[in-house]
Amino acid sequence: MDNERGSFSRVGFILAAAGSAVGLGNLWKFPYTVGENGGGLFVMVYLASVIIIALPVLIAEITIGRYTGKNPVGAFNAIKPGSPWKLVGYLGVASGFMILSFYAVVAGATVGYFFKAITGQFKGMTGDAAGSMYTNFTSNSWLQIFLLAVFIFLTVYVVSRGVSGGIEKFSKILMPALFCILILLLFRSLTLKDASKGIEFYLKPDLKALKPKLIIEAMTQAFFSLSLGMGTMITYGSYVSKKENLATAAGWIALFDTGIALLAGFIIFPAIFSQGMDPAQGSGAMFNVLPVLFAKMPGGVIFGPLFFLLLSIAALTSTISILEVPVAFAIDEKKWNRKLAAIVIGSMAFIIGIPCALFPGFMSLWVQIWGGFALSIGALFIALFVGFAWKTSDARHERKVGGGGLRLAPVWAVAIRFVAPILILLILLGSFL
Ligand code: PHE
Repeated sequence: MDNERGSFSRVGFILAAAGSAVGLGNLWKFPYTVGENGGGLFVMVYLASVIIIALPVLIAEITIGRYTGKNPVGAFNAIKPGSPWKLVGYLGVASGFMILSFYAVVAGATVGYFFKAITGQFKGMTGDAAGSMYTNFTSNSWLQIFLLAVFIFLTVYVVSRGVSGGIEKFSKILMPALFCILILLLFRSLTLKDASKGIEFYLKPDLKALKPKLIIEAMTQAFFSLSLGMGTMITYGSYVSKKENLATAAGWIALFDTGIALLAGFIIFPAIFSQGMDPAQGSGAMFNVLPVLFAKMPGGVIFGPLFFLLLSIAALTSTISILEVPVAFAIDEKKWNRKLAAIVIGSMAFIIGIPCALFPGFMSLWVQIWGGFALSIGALFIALFVGFAWKTSDARHERKVGGGGLRLAPVWAVAIRFVAPILILLILLGSFL
């Protein structure tokens, strides 16, 4: 493997892929999307989407990546040379730019909140005060643009250092540390007054909430949270050794990611209900509620900054994986060097990120189009590609290389050829009608 590309060590891959998956999608987006979609029913549809639709696509992406050893565009081209399938790869590269642009704005906000926490600004925080703190923060245009720039810079810095040096290292300490602090938050939140109301909202399915919007949002959240549909996992798969058992790796990644998202809900909803806040308040939910939790928690002055620091790093391991898609494309297909590619592409994402930082309406549109719709289209075509153009038997052969995990292979073949594409198509159509 040439040095511009680099590769992962054995554990490195699961950690890095989990690092890509776990991020703002779990802690910021999942809870507010559950809230906007009426609670428990959404959670159930989400879990079903992860298992039935997203997991087969995850296995498919990693398999394509390792088999070809290439970025998404190169990968489709390697398996079906000169065919229009490579357009799916181009869609992924474009989605990478666009997702990075809005994601880095929210990631910048977690850095901003780290500074608020460490300078003691959460002290004595109430629900109302936290709400106005967030409003003041997001309406400070220069600060938003500055934090966006900081985050893009960090991402470019790590990506330009390459895969094993940069990406792996960051993922290793992060996951256990983040998990520990989430458990502490969980205890605090569950012991608040009226916590049970939050749990009821979160777990009890209310059939009245069933709408096409709920189903599409649950499915796209599954893709977004598992970093699917734009070729991130193809790209990361391309750095995996042939010794790795891909199906098992995919299972672990999905388990980590879903576990952290569920945990986030158990923290956010009891806190929201104990503050008498609206669960459907939208994308500010995490920022509105956590400062209050830290203010009410023994040791909150330490755990507050620590949490936002870890969350910033979790976001960084995700932005790295997003930027890596267009960068791997530029290295493989355009023969750029890694550093140049990272700087040029990062700067472009910064420019597209400015309207996201300034206008919340634009931001939510971007989240919907690129963080949702584009990923679903990408996942649909990836499933069709593996199921029909590449043929699942070839894909299965590639997975055999790492050994094991093949008992469920026929189930996977049916899922990727029929179940996943049909459901994605129906859900997409349903959301248009
Ligand atoms: N999965 C990441 C998260 O949940 C976001 C992401 C989306 C990363 C798409 C890569 C590709 O935060």
